[in-house]
Amino acid sequence: MTRVLVLNGPNLARLGSREPDVYGTATYDELVAACEQAGKELGLEVDVRQTDSESELVGWLHEAADGSLPVVLNPAAFTHYSYALRDACAQLTASLVEVHLTNPATREEFRHTSVVSGVATGTVSGFGIDSYRLALRALAASTDA
Ligand code: DQA
Repeated sequence: MTRVLVLNGPNLARLGSREPDVYGTATYDELVAACEQAGKELGLEVDVRQTDSESELVGWLHEAADGSLPVVLNPAAFTHYSYALRDACAQLTASLVEVHLTNPATREEFRHTSVVSGVATGTVSGFGIDSYRLALRALAASTDA
């Protein structure tokens, strides 16, 4: 069974209580459960993680690069400025799907730039937790997932 890392950046563990008008009321635990359920349905072994640390996130991307693992990544605020994260993503050999709960293009100007998109296979934004389900479906359908 294909193993997929679902990696979440800073502040995403606070889903449910974090700006619910922006991010909705679903909790991080519900996000994890939704990814695990989608993985079961799609025949993927899903490993969902969250960190507030750029260094830890870069380490997980190295793990994915070394293991040729596909990745679903919500880089959160790192999306907009972390060249270290982009450089780690560039080392991946399997598919990378960048996901966002919201659609950053409709939000503040600083969110309109993603330094990750240029090295991602594709991006899913704006569908809340469904962004993750759609990303996992895309990976399951792709030849190298
Ligand atoms: C986010 C969008 C980012 O701009 C923001 O910093 C986040 C969450 C999203 O999922 O919509 O933390 O990645």
